[in-house]
Amino acid sequence: MTTLAGFIKGLPKVELHLHIEGTLEPELLFKLADRNNIRLKYDSVEELKQAYQFSNLQEFLNLYYEGAQVLLREQDFYDLTWAYLEKCKAQNVVHTEIFFDPQTHTERGILFATVINGINRALQDGREKLAISSKLIMCFLRHLDEASAFKTLEEALDYKDLIVGVGLDSSEKGNPPSKFERVFAKARDEGFLSFAHAGEEGPASYVKDAVELLKVVRIDHGISSIDDEYLVAELVQKQIPLTVCPLSNLALQAVDDLKNHPLKKLMDHGVLVTINSDDPAYFGGYMNENFEASAQSLGLSKGDLCQLARNAVVASLLPEQEKEQHFHAIEQYCRENA
Ligand code: ADE
Ligand code: ZN
Repeated sequence: MTTLAGFIKGLPKVELHLHIEGTLEPELLFKLADRNNIRLKYDSVEELKQAYQFSNLQEFLNLYYEGAQVLLREQDFYDLTWAYLEKCKAQNVVHTEIFFDPQTHTERGILFATVINGINRALQDGREKLAISSKLIMCFLRHLDEASAFKTLEEALDYKDLIVGVGLDSSEKGNPPSKFERVFAKARDEGFLSFAHAGEEGPASYVKDAVELLKVVRIDHGISSIDDEYLVAELVQKQIPLTVCPLSNLALQAVDDLKNHPLKKLMDHGVLVTINSDDPAYFGGYMNENFEASAQSLGLSKGDLCQLARNAVVASLLPEQEKEQHFHAIEQYCRENA
């Protein structure tokens, strides 16, 4: 009999909600600051880690944007992405769909090309050397204006072969999906898929608006959907996936206790729920830790964990044939380790 942690470790997993800038571990942050001659406010890794205590999304975002300032050169983006992919390998994450925030870098004078070339070169090496498949999604920062999002979309047109979709992240409250309706319409016209963070701190109506106005193929977080039974029914009926991030929700106090997290309730209603890590360097865990904490707090069975792993394959952007291979691997693992 394997332990639950052992079972989770071996389960083939797919990650669908991961900000590459949120994988910047304090040790790498210090190394890059040193390499780029950047003075930090913190004297040590320990002091920086001490600062990772948040009471809401904005408090986290302030540190996250500050941390990202050590990323200057293409190699920095490569090293960041490669470190995450090595973590995926260690945790048996077999496919990952990654967000990046171009405006976090272009606003401080870094070229779009520098960012995407570094990330993409690591993703390519991840495919060849680690057998991890991946997709890249570019997020607009919702605290910035529509014009800045349009400009970013324009820059992305040169990289259509590398970017599968556009997303929406950053400060949710006061920045509803409607603010970006026109940019998303243009992005869809250009062939990008749409994604949006909604219902993380914001109300269920933001989730509804992301579906109806932005025509998203997935909702990132979406936990406040539980407050609106009609919305839950719509998510079930349309099979719109939620990329839920339990340790993130706990760290940012979107839930007071993981025991009260709506993940299992949403699953029981038939919503296509997945488990993801969001910003693992800041929230205390990658995929396995998110699965373990959820299993322990919500009493998830091995059957539930297998369902969550299958849900992520369904919700992924992989072609049918690759999905079939992952379903097969999950079925076999779950049968042999039941
Ligand atoms: N950017 C990085 N992580 C985020 C989150 N959890 N919510 C909104 N924007 C983010
Ligand atoms: Zn996120």
